[in-house]
Amino acid sequence: MATKKESSGFAKDTLNGLSAPNKFLHPKYFYDEKGSKIFQEIMHMPEYYLTRAEQEIFNKQTQHIARELLNGSSPFSVIELGPGDGLKSKILLREMNGNTGNFQYVPVDISEEALESLSQAMESEIPDLNIFMKAGDYFHIMKELHNASDDRKIILFLGSNIGNFMPEEAASFLSLLTGFLHPGDQALIGFDLKKPAEVVIPAYDDPGGLTRDFNLNHLSRINRELNADFDLNKFKHRPVYNAESGAMESYLISLEKQTVNVESLNKTFDFYKGEPIFMELSKKFDLEEIANLARKFGFRIQKNFLDSRSYFADSLWKKQ
Ligand code: AVJ
Repeated sequence: MATKKESSGFAKDTLNGLSAPNKFLHPKYFYDEKGSKIFQEIMHMPEYYLTRAEQEIFNKQTQHIARELLNGSSPFSVIELGPGDGLKSKILLREMNGNTGNFQYVPVDISEEALESLSQAMESEIPDLNIFMKAGDYFHIMKELHNASDDRKIILFLGSNIGNFMPEEAASFLSLLTGFLHPGDQALIGFDLKKPAEVVIPAYDDPGGLTRDFNLNHLSRINRELNADFDLNKFKHRPVYNAESGAMESYLISLEKQTVNVESLNKTFDFYKGEPIFMELSKKFDLEEIANLARKFGFRIQKNFLDSRSYFADSLWKKQ
């Protein structure tokens, strides 16, 4: 269930986005119960190469990753931002837990449903893992955890979640992260790498229409939670990839001139025929951009872990 604070954030952000000259919605609101379920299905479809590429990194290189993470002081906290189903981190946590019991696992997620099922799965697979769930926005939770303990910290931010941030959001996220960490702390960050459009586009434009449904569910959520009357048949999903910048963008396009009423906001919103709503950025990076980001925000790259096709990188950063 959404808390009061979250739902008023939802109302406010929806109002901002739909009132802007170029309409947009914030991707963090994709993940209600239905949206989280659709995203799980997206991760299982063959076109969505990201999951398998990163899974390969964890399957084949976990001992190596664990070694790089365990060579610091104990006790420590592994704080995972947006763990989802935790399939990748589970492999790593099992490996680390076999080597030392002296750490706690802190999954942080916007979706309470996702956190609940994650911690159940983790508990059954790694019974002696110390888990402390935190529900909420990464930005808020990092501020809240800042003074909670002096333990060494390891941040996991996998799955190319960072690709969802607009450049200025990525900058404020990374400056918050660098302020949150002490020298010697580490962050393992998943980046989807730039690659040909023939590979990227189908991952966001699948023939089965799951990605379309994922985007349309954001409108359904506005209908449900903010008493709106979006007609889902009057919007079409349109993905656009710029292979040079690595910007994979998803839009919903209004198929006709229409007016949508959002009762809880006491407002109507006009759409012209063909008007886009910018739904999501799924940015792809190259290794040079990753290195520049690390340096700019006070980190050294300890090691990059890539899959065999160089589709994806889990980049291990050490705070300087
Ligand atoms: C969870 C942000 C990594 O951008 O690839 C998948 C979300 N959107 N299909 C991504 C998503 C459409 C996903 N991230």
